[in-house]
Amino acid sequence: RVALACALFVNPDILLLDEPTNHLDFPAVIWLQKYLVGYEKTLLVVSHDRHFLNYVTTDIIHLYNRNLNYYKGNYDTFAVVRAEQRLAQQRAYEASEAKRKHMQEFIDKFRFNAKRASLVQSRIKALARMEKVAEVEDEAALRFELPQVVKVEGNMVALDNVDFAYDQRKGYILRNVSVCVHAESRVGVLGANGAGKTTLIKLLMGSLEPLTGRAIRNRTVRVSCFNQHHVDQLDLDATPLDFLKTKFSKATTDQLRSHLSRYGIGSSLHEQLIGNLSGGQQSRVAFALVTYRQPHLMVMDEPTNHLDIETIDALVNAIKKWNGAVLFVSHDQYFLEQVGKDFWGVTDGRVKQFRTFKDAKSFSYAR
Ligand SMILES: Nc1ncnc2c1ncn2[C@@H]1O[C@H](COP(=O)(O)OP(=O)(O)OP(=O)(O)O)[C@@H](O)[C@H]1O
Ligand SMILES: [Mg+2]
Repeated sequence: RVALACALFVNPDILLLDEPTNHLDFPAVIWLQKYLVGYEKTLLVVSHDRHFLNYVTTDIIHLYNRNLNYYKGNYDTFAVVRAEQRLAQQRAYEASEAKRKHMQEFIDKFRFNAKRASLVQSRIKALARMEKVAEVEDEAALRFELPQVVKVEGNMVALDNVDFAYDQRKGYILRNVSVCVHAESRVGVLGANGAGKTTLIKLLMGSLEPLTGRAIRNRTVRVSCFNQHHVDQLDLDATPLDFLKTKFSKATTDQLRSHLSRYGIGSSLHEQLIGNLSGGQQSRVAFALVTYRQPHLMVMDEPTNHLDIETIDALVNAIKKWNGAVLFVSHDQYFLEQVGKDFWGVTDGRVKQFRTFKDAKSFSYAR
């Protein structure tokens, strides 16, 4: 919010925003959307947030395979037009392949037939001249797979009547909190910026201790944590391969390479410094890290920040096919609705449980 306020304050002629909605809560995103729609100068924004793009943009530039492709309209229009283009290209490809095949068959059949020699020659030339229509690339290529786990009975982690403050003189962040996560849990945590979501996660994970009440953790449960600022989990001066080697010393280089590739980190990136990777590539390294130990429970604090739309879809699909437990904080409506089955709303130091996203949302942003 502070960074955004600085950018808007100077009222520039061209406003350049790179993933502005990351970390922002719903009310802040809605405020920003309205502000940008009313902004009369030029706005160029990079975003993977579909709702946001639909609301704010009049044109889409799609950077794909090192080319910029221009589209009129918002994200949904772009998605429809692009799907049509891909279909048309696929049809053109199939038609062109059928024609080629036909010509080739003619050539093969009459190659040694003197009467048709000139015809065959002209077909050979025509075939060589024919422009090649590229096949449509398969974009669903990125698929994550989370290792299935043996089910754990009972609670994995729980808080029992917990109070917490960073500084008691400034008041409590959380009061009287009782929550639990078990093997079937798919919990989405929502609440305003600064409400205490990350604090709640840290209490459950044991990186903070309650002032009163109890934090209970089942020691046989393997928990993996994906932090809100997940670069904190990475060593920016190491390469992805060396970094995983230091974490998992028993694994072979081949095992680690194939694990990285499974998370969409191509071999050309295995030996580049993590600090020089893009935000999304760093997120993928962080995913490779947290999934390696085959967790029973994955705890993710704003996992979709920095991820592109394809990677978010891959993550959603991976979680849907997985049998482990998930606890996540998110401001991403799409992700919350796709992955969450239970929702915890955090407001005014209280944590309340809901069965639907809608109810949790109206509780969490009532003020
Ligand atoms: N280490 C700390 N020391 C003191 N205060 C802190 C510390 N960490 C967080 N806070 C304060 O505690 C409150 C809750 O912070 P927390 O990070 O849990 O919020 P959050 O719900 O995760 O917010 P966001 O949506 O912005 O990530 C905030 O008011 C924050 O300023
Ligand atoms: Mg947080």
